[in-house]
Amino acid sequence: MSTVRNSAPLRVLGLETSCDETGVAVYDSARGLLADALHSQVAMHADYGGVVPELASRDHIARTLPLVQRTLQQAGCALRDIDVIAYTQGPGLAGALLVGAGLAAALAMGAGKPLLGVHHLEGHLLSPLLSEPDLRFPFVALLVSGGHTMLLDVAALGSYRLLGETVDDAAGEAFDKSAKLLGLGYPGGPELARLAESGDPHAFALPRPMLHSGDLDFSFAGLKTAVLTRVRAMGDAPPDQARADLAAAAQHAITDVLAAKAMAALAATGRSTLVVAGGVGANRSLRAKLDAACAARGARVCYPALSWCTDNGPMIAHAACLRLCAGLATPRRDYGFDIRPRWDLDELDR
Ligand code: KG4
Ligand code: ZN
Repeated sequence: MSTVRNSAPLRVLGLETSCDETGVAVYDSARGLLADALHSQVAMHADYGGVVPELASRDHIARTLPLVQRTLQQAGCALRDIDVIAYTQGPGLAGALLVGAGLAAALAMGAGKPLLGVHHLEGHLLSPLLSEPDLRFPFVALLVSGGHTMLLDVAALGSYRLLGETVDDAAGEAFDKSAKLLGLGYPGGPELARLAESGDPHAFALPRPMLHSGDLDFSFAGLKTAVLTRVRAMGDAPPDQARADLAAAAQHAITDVLAAKAMAALAATGRSTLVVAGGVGANRSLRAKLDAACAARGARVCYPALSWCTDNGPMIAHAACLRLCAGLATPRRDYGFDIRPRWDLDELDR
């Protein structure tokens, strides 16, 4: 567990409500993560085949405060022992973000504490530091979530240079859409990965879009179309083995491109450490390819713990704590709050 060194101890309560997970954590700069709690809305949205924003907001309203109480109790502290209250300011669903921001501001006002908004993607990108104590800047980050696919050159805390990103679908979307075409449930990524375990990745030849584009951008929309064509060709009652083979081939194609571009980013920047973050970072096939490719070039690769790949509270409390300890953030004391549903990482103030 990493802790923030060389600064007066600081204790942060973090709230994450940007999409379909309610996450709460208490992170202490001297002692690390003290407690965290998570409620996933996956089962609620599964009937609809995707996240329903209005339902997400309503559920966050019901869940967040009880999770805050439980987390504080587990951490053995009260609100008065917290130094700063942090919340996910964006990007994300506006209504869902407002719930976390509004509650954080109310708690801050009630307890007379300062308030800090956190960039969701910065939370993801720093999350491997939570479990890799000796990880140091600089590194290249591969950020692969449901909404984003990016390669970043991370020179230091708060210094994020975009090297490449998807021009259409995100890697997580490619997993989710392929899964849907194969008749799997939501969220599709883990379901597709499970089905792929019994499939032959070479049974179908699927495209690797932009593999040789010469830049560090990605494209996954064409892959989805290729999967659709194969699904149609299978007819109404495809054999289980054919579905598993197609799932394995889709996963193989997505992870091939991610691994190849991540290696190209290491080569382009001269960095020797790769950090992987975001929901797709939980994918075993991706991890195996990155492990092998990094070992071959003598590079180090770091992942968040599996439970911290997808959205969670610790990454928000931790990112806030790092910024505050480094003097890179000034919390608000006026109890006002705002959200930024659309917010590029490179617009983040250093
Ligand atoms: O980071 P995240 O929880 O939420 C966003 O900020 O988007 O990522 C969610 C995405 C979904 O597309 C989900 O299908 C994908 O991560 N995902 C996976 C796996 N676990 C989650 N994709 C592939 N393999 C997995 N094991
Ligand atoms: Zn996320």
